[in-house]
Amino acid sequence: MAAKKSQSLEGYEVLLCVTGGIACYKTADLTSKLVQAGAGVTVAMTDAAQEFIRPLTFQTLTGRRVFTTLWQSTEYYSSGHISLTEAADLMIVAPATANVLAKMATGMADDLVSTMILATTGSCPILAAPAMNTRMLSAPAVKANHATLKKWGIQFVGPAKGRLACGTIGEGRLAETDEILEAATELLLKKSPKAKVAPEIQADRKKFFQEMELFRKGLKKGRFSDSAKLIREDRER
Ligand SMILES: Cc1cc2nc3c(=O)[nH]c(=O)nc-3n(C[C@H](O)[C@H](O)[C@H](O)COP(=O)(O)O)c2cc1C
Repeated sequence: MAAKKSQSLEGYEVLLCVTGGIACYKTADLTSKLVQAGAGVTVAMTDAAQEFIRPLTFQTLTGRRVFTTLWQSTEYYSSGHISLTEAADLMIVAPATANVLAKMATGMADDLVSTMILATTGSCPILAAPAMNTRMLSAPAVKANHATLKKWGIQFVGPAKGRLACGTIGEGRLAETDEILEAATELLLKKSPKAKVAPEIQADRKKFFQEMELFRKGLKKGRFSDSAKLIREDRER
């Protein structure tokens, strides 16, 4: 691929959907690299993904809240699954489970991640990085879903061949983080950034600046709110 992994992604917004495979831990590295490249990264996780890795990891790496449910957006008077997808320049699904590929190929929207994927239609490219056991990968249903999604314009990176977590050697490994970053960079740099940040994320930042101002004036003592604290820590890193 032509794109260089060191290229700046300043101004771009990435919506990273993490689904429940053993390779979830590698997505933390991808998140860190996207953030280091300058992208704003918002993470959404399925319930299964949270069995493998805690939202706190992504919250700390991105300096942003992590979205885990359809039902948490009311305090911002907007539908997170819509506003977050509208703001994104690229959606990445990594790792992409057999389950999420099936949902994508059949238009299912029964949780936050699958609803967001459906709501992304026409708004920005989707890059999927599948990872699963070799036998799962060779199942006719998975192959058919993969072919359907390719035909519909979903971009794929991997899966790679090698040693799988279950001990077998074969196809099904998550593509290397640098390879996913490179594919993402190439897709992002095809267009200028939308330069849009979802209201949910803006509200967190506004809260942070308001709290900072109160601290400066000596009007606030004690703890920052959780989101403001995260953003402050992120800035101090
Ligand atoms: C230890 C363990 C590892 C798993 N690894 C994978 C995997 O690598 N790929 C996959 O497609 N499913 C894997 N699964 C199965 C998924 O977690 C399961 O299909 C789940 O329903 C996926 O939900 P999600 O797509 O909503 O995240 C694994 C399950 C367990 C218990």
